[in-house]
Amino acid sequence: MANHRFSVVSGSEEEEACCSKKAKICLGVFLGLLVLVTVAVVVGILMGRRSPKWNGKGSTVDFQEIILRRCYTYIRVVQPELGDRDCQKIKKAFTDAFISKDPCSAREEDYDLLMKLGHQTVPCDKTVFWSKTKELAHQYTKTQKGLFTLENTLLGYIADDLSWCGKVGSSEINLESCPDRRNCNSNFVSVFWNLLSKRFAENACGMVQVFLNGSISNAFDKTSTFGRVEVHSLQPSKVHTLKAWVIHDSGKTPRDTCSGSSINELQLILRGKNIKFTCQENYRPI
Ligand SMILES: *[C@@H]1O[C@H](CO)[C@@H](O)[C@H](O)[C@H]1NC(C)=O
Repeated sequence: MANHRFSVVSGSEEEEACCSKKAKICLGVFLGLLVLVTVAVVVGILMGRRSPKWNGKGSTVDFQEIILRRCYTYIRVVQPELGDRDCQKIKKAFTDAFISKDPCSAREEDYDLLMKLGHQTVPCDKTVFWSKTKELAHQYTKTQKGLFTLENTLLGYIADDLSWCGKVGSSEINLESCPDRRNCNSNFVSVFWNLLSKRFAENACGMVQVFLNGSISNAFDKTSTFGRVEVHSLQPSKVHTLKAWVIHDSGKTPRDTCSGSSINELQLILRGKNIKFTCQENYRPI
């Protein structure tokens, strides 16, 4: 009898313990999941904000409007001889080159149509290169009419200082971030400038000039666009002389000169190509 009562009581106790345990487990699992989901969402948002996918800054806001406007300014005001160019087509070819594509998969061929539409011949003796002297070179070509830096050509003018890239599976321009060289060499901005610089140098003829910076230790820098791409793309059949200007900033101690080792390196490259080399130093006119 005592046994039976005991077993009944014990039975009902077991049942209560069982239900509340189940309920606790359910609640526990539910709360656990809730916390996990919340944490995941918050972390996702914070990561998305704090570390964009690429190291470079995002595309320039209003990229398409800017290139269209610059194109019209160029063909109407800067070089009216190019007045027959189709700026809408140029804008479309530029955008189509990178939109919807992996921003680290750029190839020169992506810009084939753009290069064709923007093709331009610079007259002989009028090509000016620069390396770490961009501002000075642009001041110079502004006052010495008829000279061209890369940024004085249609495509260089359109793209100067802009940034652009797309996203896979989206027809939008990526405004958050774009890859730079830390992410990949085959990003659309680097491939564009390398290609444009190469073509600019390949088409140069007669005497060409370069402005180099005498306030830095390597006035001729092998890793710059000039040292890496342009000087090697000069065609000995077309270019007879490269005239280098080593520019010193007034008030700063000169750190490189025409007789320095970096200029000597440049001279050797040109000797190998059978192109005459001259070098002059000058102080930056202020
Ligand atoms: C040379 O480089 C220095 C340091 O980057 C810069 O401040 C200066 O303006 C440059 N000089 C010229 C002539 O561009």
